[in-house]
Parts: sequence; structure tokens; C-alpha cells
Amino acid sequence: MLIRIFFSYDGFYIHELCLIFCFLTCGALSLKKQMKKLPGAGIVPDESEVSEQKFTTENENKESVGNAPAPADGEKEMLVDEIVITPVGYAMRMAGTDQATGIIIDNMDLFQKYAAEQWNTMFVDVGTYLFDSYLFPDFAFQIIAVKPAAGKISPETKIIFKNRNTTVLSKITPVVMSDVIGQEEAKRKCRIILKYLEDPSVFGLEWAPRNILFHGPPGTGKTLMARALANEAKANFFARNATTLIGVHVGDGAKKINDLYELASSMAPCVVFIDELDAIGLNRSFQHVRGDVIEVATALLAELDGMEANKGVVSIGATNQVELLDPALRSRFEEEIYFNAPTASDRTEMIKLYAGKTPLKMKLDFQLIASKIDTWTGRDIKEKLMKNMIHDAIISGKKLVTTEMALELIGRLQKKDQASRVNPLSF
Ligand SMILES: Nc1ncnc2c1ncn2[C@@H]1O[C@H](COP(=O)(O)OP(=O)(O)OP(=O)(O)O)[C@@H](O)[C@H]1O
Ligand SMILES: [Mg+2]
Repeated sequence: MLIRIFFSYDGFYIHELCLIFCFLTCGALSLKKQMKKLPGAGIVPDESEVSEQKFTTENENKESVGNAPAPADGEKEMLVDEIVITPVGYAMRMAGTDQATGIIIDNMDLFQKYAAEQWNTMFVDVGTYLFDSYLFPDFAFQIIAVKPAAGKISPETKIIFKNRNTTVLSKITPVVMSDVIGQEEAKRKCRIILKYLEDPSVFGLEWAPRNILFHGPPGTGKTLMARALANEAKANFFARNATTLIGVHVGDGAKKINDLYELASSMAPCVVFIDELDAIGLNRSFQHVRGDVIEVATALLAELDGMEANKGVVSIGATNQVELLDPALRSRFEEEIYFNAPTASDRTEMIKLYAGKTPLKMKLDFQLIASKIDTWTGRDIKEKLMKNMIHDAIISGKKLVTTEMALELIGRLQKKDQASRVNPLSF
């Protein structure tokens, strides 16, 4: 019929018709080839095209998984039965924005299908990175276990998701509880928390440690204690400074709190540490000054109350202005632990501890030095005394730090401190 139409068309020649046929046939073949490359197109590739398709996928894999080693020839067809993946996050972020590394999976079966579909045929082993390409483009997951050791993902591969231990303060030098001098009450409570993290079942449903408040003068070891707990617990630990939980827009702050606890609950048992709690937990009579924190405080109250939802989550708040805290918030903490200024023997121990960690040799009468600084906190001892002693010695080319140098420095710092306390307006 087509031929009849073309023949009836005035001035049309047979060889032009042949050209049109060739063109249409080539177009159809090329379309078929493209369709075979679409996932789920349902067309089985013919043998001649398989090798080309495989080669492309493997090359793509090598690029996208970053450190995946190239499979040896014999391994090419080995499929993995099971992989365990953990979220790592994005490779980069805009300065000033939060880094999200936690992922919450609502439906494990669905996630299995979602993940297997997009990573099907990828060659993987332990350490390989897999990048999401649908919901959170370029969000990275890392493989932490594979069965058997390495091979390709197939639709039958069981993909197990695991939020791994997360210690926000992990980049800071690891500390242990014995690095915290004094503060025995806090240590006792932290040991209870450690026990709980090791075996929550011992505590039953209603008797687990839940909300604890550290308070006391600045520089007495509240944050240090939380870091030590995190390090020793080797459990999931979220440390946030309260100021980072205040949002820019209405609703942001409350969402940050909700997200934090949702993630924490999904990774229970774990500890949430909120430092500088007064920044968001202000007494309501002050909140009109900081309208932006009301929603954060309210959201936090709800989370601290969320017995069922937050099973296995211990919250530790820290502040040096406990009297400014909203009474409703304060009442949510089962125990308030006061961090006192160090005693003479604590100060002696601290000087001894830090003297052992300095790069210079020290020959010090610890007790004598401690007796000269009776109002100094742990932070003062580390940052003012030890650091300045080291700086003084380095600048004057001395290899040994002595008691005389320490006493001279203390005298100098105390004089300076007194001078700065003189009110210039009184002149
Ligand atoms: N009890 C302590 N034992 C040993 N070192 C301490 C102690 N207290 C403080 N320090 C030293 O001082 C530093 C600062 O302490 P830290 O940040 O824990 O104080 P803080 O109580 O959280 O203060 P702030 O209320 O200002 O946040 C610590 O990193 C540590 O080097
Ligand atoms: Mg602190």
C-alpha cells in the first residue's frame, strides 16, 4: 500500500523509495538496541551484545565505587549472597550547613528492592562505596561486610542496612574516664550508662537511665566526661552543641530535634549529648527575648518524655547556667550532677596528668604548684598553666620546665588577672 501511494505520487523514483526503507530499518534496529539497555525493559539481550554491555557496567562500577578492586577473570561471575551497608554521607557540603550522615529506613523489604535494583551487577567487597542515584543522589553508603568475600550484586543479594556507630566528637583525641580527674558522682552515673549500653535488658523497661543533666562552673570537665563516655561506650553517640539545633526558619529547630531523636531511636541503644543546653532550654520568662528557641525547647521536652519512642536512648544535657533553665525542662532530668571546682588533690593530679603529656621534660613540685592556684579549674590548669609554661620554655630555648618557672608564670598570670578585674569606669 505504501508502495502504491509513493508510486502514485508525481515524480517519485523507485531508488528514492529504497533509501527511505533503509533509513526506517536502521532506525528501528537502533531503537531496539537502546531499549535493551533500559533497566526493566524486559527484552533479553542477544549474546553478541552481552559482552559489550557487561564491559560498560564494570567500567562504570569501577568509577562509581571508587576503591573497588577490579575482579580477576575467574571472579567475574561470582555473585554475593549478602552485603551489609552503612550510610557515610555526601562527599562535600556547603560551608555552614549541617552534614547529614544518618538515614532512616521505614520499610526494609522495599529498601532491599530499591537498593538491589540500582546496584545490580556492581562488583563489591568490604570497603566499597555505593552511591545512591535516585532519592538522595550521590549519598554514599559503604560496605562493611560481604558474604562471600567479594563479587557482584544480583537481585537475590540480601542487602542489610546498618547505621554504624557514630561519635560526632570522634575527631578529637580519644579520652577515657581516667583522664577526668575527680567528678566521682558523674563517673558513677556514666558507669551505669555504660552498663546500660552493654546490656539494656538488665534494666527492664522502666528503670533504664534516661535523662541526666551535667551542670557546674565552666571548665570543670562536663564535655570532657561526655567525650570519655562516648569513647568508652563505643556505642552510638550523638553530641550536639545546642546552638546548632536552632534553625534559621520557623520549624527548622523543632525538626532538627525530632530528626536527631528519630535517628537516635533507630540506632538505639545510644547516647545523645546536648552541650550548652541553656542556649535552647531557657526559662520561659526569658524566652520572649529568644523567640526562636521556644519551638526547640518544646520539641526537646517532648523527646525527653518520649518513653516508648525513645527506648534505649539516654540524653545528657550540659550547662553552666542551670538556674536559667526552664523548670519544665529541668524536671525531665532524673539526675542533676554538679561538676565542682577541683580540690587541692584534684589540681595536683591534673598537673601530674598533663605534665606527663607535654612534649617537654618537666621537673615540678605538683603539690606546691597546686596550692598556689586554689581557684583554678581543669581548663585553667591545662590552657593557662601548662600551655603557657610550654610556650615560655620553647620561646626561651629551655629543654626543662621547672617549679620556679611555673611559680613565676602563676604570679604573672594572677597579677594580670587582678589588673583586668579593675573596673575602668571607676577612674
Ligand atoms: N576534671 C578534669 N580532669 C581533667 N581535665 C579537665 C577536667 N576538667 C577540665 N579539664 C580540662 O579542661 C578542658 C575543658 O573542660 P570541659 O570542656 O570539659 O569543661 P566544661 O565543664 O564542659 O566547660 P563549659 O561549661 O565551659 O562547657 C578539658 O578538655 C580538659 O583538658
Ligand atoms: Mg562544655
